[in-house]
Amino acid sequence: MLLPFRFENNTFWLLDQRKLPFEEVWVPCQTARAAAAGIREMVVRGAPAIGVTAAYGMVLAHLSGEDLAEAEALLRQSRPTAVNLFYALDRMRPHWGDLEASLQEAQAIWDEVRKTEQAISQHGARVLRGRVLTHCNTGPLATGGYGTALGAIVEAYRQGRVTHVWVDETRPYLQGARLTAYELQKAGVPATLITDNMAAYLMGRGQVDAVIVGTDRMALNGDFANKIGTYGLAILARYHGIPFYPALPLSSVDPSLEQGDQIPIEERPAQEVTFIRGQPIAPEGFPAAHPGFDVTPHHLITGIVTEKGVLYPPFDEALRAALGKE
Ligand code: MRU
Repeated sequence: MLLPFRFENNTFWLLDQRKLPFEEVWVPCQTARAAAAGIREMVVRGAPAIGVTAAYGMVLAHLSGEDLAEAEALLRQSRPTAVNLFYALDRMRPHWGDLEASLQEAQAIWDEVRKTEQAISQHGARVLRGRVLTHCNTGPLATGGYGTALGAIVEAYRQGRVTHVWVDETRPYLQGARLTAYELQKAGVPATLITDNMAAYLMGRGQVDAVIVGTDRMALNGDFANKIGTYGLAILARYHGIPFYPALPLSSVDPSLEQGDQIPIEERPAQEVTFIRGQPIAPEGFPAAHPGFDVTPHHLITGIVTEKGVLYPPFDEALRAALGKE
């Protein structure tokens, strides 16, 4: 299985996802500062994967003798939208000052990623069939486990339920073209790359049977943030009568948020829109907007795929029950 990181000899190694699929370069992190930079600069990305990296970042802080509060602050500031980062750091707090305990907790967080994604893949596979469209990257590289939405797709393919995958290239950062295509190729799943603006055409011709995506943060009513472009796909799916599913571990639900408009959305550099792999694609100095995520309202969702099963409306009640809040 592909792995986005490994912990060896007191070093947390990150597979540089900025260079994939062309080069496999491993970046060593020996401090929380280095782990935070790895998250900020998207050496590692994907909601569960940055959670695990933040947890190991705190282990590195213990090993390197960094000030723990400063280390945690650096990690907290690295990226704003995926709640997994904050979830992992909250779990590490009770173990501050105890290297052995903090290492065990980081390992537990990573183990839980694998375990929950096995369940997500099984539950998700049952609702998928035919030709499935996905957005961004939700496979092993994004999580450190089997993957969420992509885990379900691969499992459904192995069960003979899914026959083909449409891979959105995911402008502007191209996680679909570079990473999802790479993962599906390695997994031997038949797939076709499309640009994001081709989805409506394919849906209109009856060539998409389901859409499944990942999730960076879900509010208690089921509204969720995911990679920019997800909201548009949800609207298209509803218009064409195609089932639309977000997949996520329940740790991606933020129990402090009632609805999605409270989710902080990352603003990324305009240059990621105006340049592709160092090549300008717009007049010099031309302004560009780059919100990294959008929020899909819960009423566009068919079902929410979690490790506890697929949740159906009313989502606020189903999520509270799944979180054990009833
Ligand atoms: O900006 P990225 O590449 O970190 O965004 C990743 C996504 O939006 C994924 O869909 C999301 O993290 C779900 S992870 C399984």
